[in-house]
Amino acid sequence: MADQALIDTLNDLRARELAVIVQYMRHHMVMTGADAAALAGDFKSISIVEMKHAEALGERIDFLGGDPTTKPTEIKKGGDTLESAASIDLASEKEAVELYKKAIKQADEAGDVTTRRLLEDILADEEDHVNDFQMMLGK
Ligand SMILES: [Fe+2]
Ligand SMILES: [Fe+2]
Repeated sequence: MADQALIDTLNDLRARELAVIVQYMRHHMVMTGADAAALAGDFKSISIVEMKHAEALGERIDFLGGDPTTKPTEIKKGGDTLESAASIDLASEKEAVELYKKAIKQADEAGDVTTRRLLEDILADEEDHVNDFQMMLGK
């Protein structure tokens, strides 16, 4: 029997993924300036990775008997320059890393090995994204 608290956590994570898909794709579109010309495409690529996360979480939620949410959390705006976009999105990624780590523990406690493995794969991508945005900011 599926763990309702774990399904709820997966849906919270999916809602965040839906938000950052829109947030990063918007930054890809609105960013201006010389740095933006070189790097705006990276925001689009990262947004597409987030789509894959949202889809994988949705499939797992459905498998566990839950209803995959269609409602994003807050979409942060700004991002008219590379520095603005990368700072906002770096904060979102750092938050994601913490939330995925917590969810991995929860999946472990629920004895759900498959969900834990899925969350670990996504966490690895989020850590890459932290690195991507930090590099854009010269950190
Ligand atoms: Fe993600
Ligand atoms: Fe990410």
